[in-house]
Amino acid sequence: MMRTIHILNGPNLNRLGTREPEIYGTTTLAEIEAGCHAKASELGFSIFFCQTNHEGQLVDWLHRADDEGAAAVLLNAAAYTHTSIALLDAIRAISVPVIEVHLSDPSQREPFRHRSYVGMGAVHCISGLGPASYLAALEQAAQL
Ligand code: DQA
Repeated sequence: MMRTIHILNGPNLNRLGTREPEIYGTTTLAEIEAGCHAKASELGFSIFFCQTNHEGQLVDWLHRADDEGAAAVLLNAAAYTHTSIALLDAIRAISVPVIEVHLSDPSQREPFRHRSYVGMGAVHCISGLGPASYLAALEQAAQL
C-alpha cells in the first residue's frame, strides 16, 4: 500500500501568489500542491495537502496524521511557528516525524521569527528555497 505524507499549511499561505511577492514569490499554494503531487509520486508516496488559518485545526491534523499512520508530516505552520506551544506539544504527542518547512528563511528575517516552537519538535527544517523547500522536504521525508 502506498504510504502518505501529510503536508499541512498554516495561516495566510492561502494568499501565496499575491502575498508579499518580494518575500514569497508569485507561485500559488495550488501550484505548490501540484508540484508536491508530482514529486511525491516520483518518490512512491501519496500526499494529503491542506491549509488552514486556524491553529487548533493544525493540532487536529497533526493528531490525524498519527492516527492514520502517515509516513511523515511536512509542516509550514507560518506565523504559528514562532508562537505556538500547542503545535510543539502536538508534535511531541505524536510518533509520526515532522519536518518544518518555510519558503523564506526566518533566521534571516525579523528577530521575532528567529524562535521556532515547531523546530523544537521537528526532525528537520528546510527553509529559504521558495517552493523548492517543499520538494526538498519531500525528499527528506522519503528517506526517513
Ligand atoms: C513562512 C515564514 C513565517 O515566518 C511567516 O510567518 C509565514 C511564512 C514561510 O514559509 O516562509 O507566514 O512560514
